[in-house]
Amino acid sequence: MKFVVYASLITGLFIPNGFSLAGEIEDGKKTSQSHCTRCHVVGDFNPNGGISSTPSFQLLVNALKDYEERFATFYVRPPHPAVIKIKGIKKRDDLPYNAEPVELTLKDVANILNFAKTLKKK
Ligand code: HEC
Repeated sequence: MKFVVYASLITGLFIPNGFSLAGEIEDGKKTSQSHCTRCHVVGDFNPNGGISSTPSFQLLVNALKDYEERFATFYVRPPHPAVIKIKGIKKRDDLPYNAEPVELTLKDVANILNFAKTLKKK
């Protein structure tokens, strides 16, 4: 099951029963705006925000061929493990004492990817 979820995250075909893709994109947008804009510029939400050394979602999506895989696995890629925990996936225990990790679900990760795809230039 885990593999299926992971594989479908990678291919972007994660469409559980009862959820429309539009709803997933909207959810992914909200999650991104709440939890990623601290460091990333995300779409047109915070054009002058983020941290300048952190790539914008637009840059990631448009400049990187493998952006879908990167979005599907961002939570294991530095610096994210220190700040974001995924429900059901063991947290690294070497966090700095002042870090309060954000907890998301794999569904949130899939939704973020669906939202990120909407930032791809046609
Ligand atoms: C604490 C700051 C911070 C937060 C919060 C944050 N990111 Fe990042 N993110 C970064 C930095 C810095 C990089 C660039 C890392 C690098 O170049 O090695 C990055 C890179 C990425 C990448 C590209 C990864 C790669 O290997 O190229 C993705 C995808 C990503 N972030 C998604 C997200 C998502 C989705 C969220 C919100 C759920 C998020 N980030 C929240 C700082 C952050």
